[in-house]
Amino acid sequence: MCGIVGYVGYEDVKEIILSGLEKLEYRGYDSAGIAVINEDGVKVFKDKGRIANLRKIIDNNAKSNIGIGHTRWATHGVPNKINSHPHQSCSKRFTLVHNGIIENDEYLRSKYLKNVKFESNTDTETVVQLIQKFVDNGENVDLAIRHTMSEIKGSYALAILDNENPEIIYAAKNKSPLLVGIGKGFNMVGSDAMAMISLTNEFYELDDKEFIKITKDKIEIYTIYGNKVDKKSYKADIDTADIEKGVYPHYMMKEIEEQPFVVRRIMNEYSDDNGKPIVDKDILSDVKNSDKIYIIACGTSYHAGLVGKQLLEKIAQKPAEVIIASEFIYNMPLLSKKPLFLFISQSGETADCRAVLVKVKKMGYKTIALTNVKGSTLSREANHTLLLYAGPEIAVASTKAYTAQITVLSILSTLIYNSLGIDIFRELSIAANVMESLCDNADIYKDLAKEFLVGQRSCFYIGRHMDYFVCVEAALKLKEISYIQTEGFAAGELKHGTIALIEENTPVIAIITHESINLNTRSNIKEVKARGAKTLIISMKKISTDTDQIIVDNVHEILSPLVSIIPAQYLSYYAALQKGCDIDKPRNLAKSVTVE
Ligand code: G6P
Repeated sequence: MCGIVGYVGYEDVKEIILSGLEKLEYRGYDSAGIAVINEDGVKVFKDKGRIANLRKIIDNNAKSNIGIGHTRWATHGVPNKINSHPHQSCSKRFTLVHNGIIENDEYLRSKYLKNVKFESNTDTETVVQLIQKFVDNGENVDLAIRHTMSEIKGSYALAILDNENPEIIYAAKNKSPLLVGIGKGFNMVGSDAMAMISLTNEFYELDDKEFIKITKDKIEIYTIYGNKVDKKSYKADIDTADIEKGVYPHYMMKEIEEQPFVVRRIMNEYSDDNGKPIVDKDILSDVKNSDKIYIIACGTSYHAGLVGKQLLEKIAQKPAEVIIASEFIYNMPLLSKKPLFLFISQSGETADCRAVLVKVKKMGYKTIALTNVKGSTLSREANHTLLLYAGPEIAVASTKAYTAQITVLSILSTLIYNSLGIDIFRELSIAANVMESLCDNADIYKDLAKEFLVGQRSCFYIGRHMDYFVCVEAALKLKEISYIQTEGFAAGELKHGTIALIEENTPVIAIITHESINLNTRSNIKEVKARGAKTLIISMKKISTDTDQIIVDNVHEILSPLVSIIPAQYLSYYAALQKGCDIDKPRNLAKSVTVE
């Protein structure tokens, strides 16, 4: 996590870095800082809180054409001013920002830095002190940084200023993402393209253990051993309008309402000249040649994976297993004979997924990344990529990436083996229309959220079959942005213990979209009602009753998650809004979790 950005060029750097950091706030936002160099030396401004707060404390006289900035998601040390980045070496010659985790921080401190007085509790400070130490020992700056890179274990994207070389930004990367932005008369580094896209759309992707030096008109990339690296640049096709909120009060609302368009865009991207569904033939052949698909993901993407397993098994009759990435890495299941690994990740940067990818690649297995970000780490490292085409997702709570993941998986499934004989584009078009009409009639959720959720301590979502998998995602949406403790439960399982938590007025939201489980889930609703629960029912039209509060038009049952999640997304949004929560940047979270 954490976002870093650096600029060296001809313009005053403060606004460039601050607006770059604002674009990176999705990576963490508990503290922020910036360092610039001018004729008076290095100036550092940093504090706990958001970029908006950083803006207030920056001295407007600190003009400069070179600077680095950081937005933090705390790992080592509480979020406070001292632990905020940038950090400086004891002589103040070196100033550094870092994204990642230094795993052997204590070892390095005791081996090399026993006599150094540390100011912060961060692992990052070890890096900057180590660079200083190696320079003090007689190494030149390049060597000292590469030497430091070879000593540290863990993940890092670093941007470094040297007061004695005030025209250079040094940078380095291992496991954490870092791009170089190529400009005319300026150059940049940043955690992702969005931080730089208003100034340039041409980038170099960096590989692990690369060391970089940029000045306003030169970019040099080296291996950790000091050998020069030649790279091909690429152009990012991000539309700057896509990363603005536009008329919407929050990114989350914008992204909820983009969902029908995203489904249609995916159909367009995955269609051949005759408008028929198509997926890269190498992907299809690898999938067909495997005997089981292991879906690896975290958070919302994991929940999309749960639905994906259903699609793969029910449509394509392809066995699938879904495993949380951080669990797989230490507790690998007994694998089938010909496994294929499918990584689902909106950002393509989630460290837990990457750890699994590295491991299974070493074991020689085939891998696919299903991601929203072209050129992301997972996309580059997997054998194949399936893109989501959802456009940048900025709100921390994922919405359109979830429905995009399910959409792509549904297309893939029918192309593997269409055992249900579905005309997938027809069914997805119907689903997109239903999604759109749900968005057009979203006013009802404000009152429902007020009546059922605001003021509540806890809540349950219950459902069976595919509805159950939607319930776990719906519960995540509600808890992560409104802080109401919510569980998504298999409706039939509630009575085996958890029903003890139902009290007078506990909200229980049921999702019912499948005919086969309609009556059973309705019985479970009666059970909780009898114990005082306040129930809210989201049902599909063909099996709805007059008393169901939210009725969703019919779609093919196998695609029901695409539509039944939308009321839940709105309920979360309006509950959070009415509770006064920070919807796009919920507490303690970050969108892209680049530490394990
Ligand atoms: C974080 C975010 C979640 C997201 C998860 C996986 O925890 O807060 O919203 O679902 O990471 O992210 P990915 O980019 O891999 O889908």
